[in-house]
Amino acid sequence: IYQLLPKDKSLPPVVWHWIPWFGSAAAYGQDPIKFLFDCKEKYGNVFTFILMGGRVTVALTPAGNNFIMGGKHTTFSAEDVYTHLTTPVFGKDVVYDCPNELLMEQKKFVKFGLSTDNFRRYVGMIEKEVTQFMANDASFKIWQMNDINEWGAFDVLKTMSEITILTASRTLQGKEVRQSITKDYAQVYSDLDGGFTPLHFMFPNLPLESYRKRDAAHKKISDFYINIIRKRRENPGMEEEPDMISALMGQKYRGGRTLQDHEIAHIMIALLMAGQHTSSSTGSWTLLHIADRPDIAQSLYDEQVKHFRQPDGTWRTPEHEELKELPILDSVIRETLRIHPPIHSIMRGVREDVVVPPSLAAPSEDGRYVIPKGHAVLSSAAISQVDPMLWKNANDWDPSRWSDPEGAAAQAYKQYDDANGAKVDFGFGLVSKGTESPYQPFGAGRHRCIGEQFAYLQLGTIISTFVRHVEMRLPETGVPPPNYHTMITLPKTPRDILYRRREFD
Ligand code: HEM
Repeated sequence: IYQLLPKDKSLPPVVWHWIPWFGSAAAYGQDPIKFLFDCKEKYGNVFTFILMGGRVTVALTPAGNNFIMGGKHTTFSAEDVYTHLTTPVFGKDVVYDCPNELLMEQKKFVKFGLSTDNFRRYVGMIEKEVTQFMANDASFKIWQMNDINEWGAFDVLKTMSEITILTASRTLQGKEVRQSITKDYAQVYSDLDGGFTPLHFMFPNLPLESYRKRDAAHKKISDFYINIIRKRRENPGMEEEPDMISALMGQKYRGGRTLQDHEIAHIMIALLMAGQHTSSSTGSWTLLHIADRPDIAQSLYDEQVKHFRQPDGTWRTPEHEELKELPILDSVIRETLRIHPPIHSIMRGVREDVVVPPSLAAPSEDGRYVIPKGHAVLSSAAISQVDPMLWKNANDWDPSRWSDPEGAAAQAYKQYDDANGAKVDFGFGLVSKGTESPYQPFGAGRHRCIGEQFAYLQLGTIISTFVRHVEMRLPETGVPPPNYHTMITLPKTPRDILYRRREFD
């Protein structure tokens, strides 16, 4: 009934809901994309919905992305909405459990470890991990038997999750971590991961087993990294390969202080969590779409043959620079991230009243919309990336839209520019930059992802290796629908891919 009472006209419209405190939690949790598109149609680009007692104001379209992602961090705070989820998992004094200025410095330290020199060494390491996995995993028995006529099957998410953790630990995390990926480690990791769910986002502490397991797992993993760091400090020069731990051990905050062991340990956990589901989800969706489109799989294979097959029939490991210059591979990953961005909603806590710019939402009767302090704001690239106003055949997975400079993506940007008096120049090839871009799978602005290049390298190498070795198809069930009940959008089961060994493997 309170929804029928006269409203403060300066506030954005509130989404109609039946249960007061619970609000739109069910509709948003079940299918946020449908929910946000439905609300856009009913209420416009700016509206508020109730989520478990909180008020979340959404700003859609590229102008909405810009409003939130390009907003001041003193107005829109990431730590206010994320810390209760992330601090128990990552640990104290890093990321959102410290002043924002320190996070910016920590991101710089991590960038130092994501150097081109390191990337050059990683391609071969990732390739080797993937082929070793295929040579040992039970799902790849058919491949191991060397029979090119038989078809086998693998659960794509299970496979990609294992390969992602193996390859990330072999490269970024360092050799001690890679050597410890045993059954015990997998269990501890899975307990920690079990604490990173929408339930834990809504309720930071409940007397439930998953919360106890999360806390115990955090302590174990944190101690594990601290031990590695101590051993390295005691034996300088011990690690032969530079990795992220060594990069962080060599950094200093602006005041001149080095990072404490627990800070390094907690940044390492944050990186593990930031890269694991995002990359394994993207890898899974990419393979599913490739398996669904034998024509594109063939073009990808031809691209690999052209560049990396040697006269004697064996495969050459790509240089990192070469991997970046493969238009089909690049557009296949780019397009997958358009339709399946792993993070569908980005939130911030509002620290002071903010006026919504009239370009984003027509002013209310008293001349303006205000988002009050205490609301959360939500930006969703998952909406602008499939907005039919901006993209031709928006829901079709069509990598060719990226590889053709005259193609649909370029057209979409031109259309957007024209509609906005050409004030925005996305520039073809620069589409993932800028807070106003409709394409933001890696976020934008101050909190933008620093793992993009690593993710492209890791995914590009994993996908190339698969395409070289196996032909893939989907069962009749086709590409599965997304599951939005996890923090990261994942393919629902069944999600098997059928494969057969290639003749020239
Ligand atoms: C931030 C996506 C892989 C580390 C972000 C954000 C997005 C994102 C959307 C912005 C979050 C926000 O504004 O609230 C992705 C996707 C990935 C990926 C789609 C893979 C396909 C990685 C990897 C790493 C990483 C591999 C580490 C090596 C980070 C970090 C931040 C971040 C440190 C900054 C958080 C902040 O400043 O608040 N990522 N990410 N990500 N990501 Fe990634």
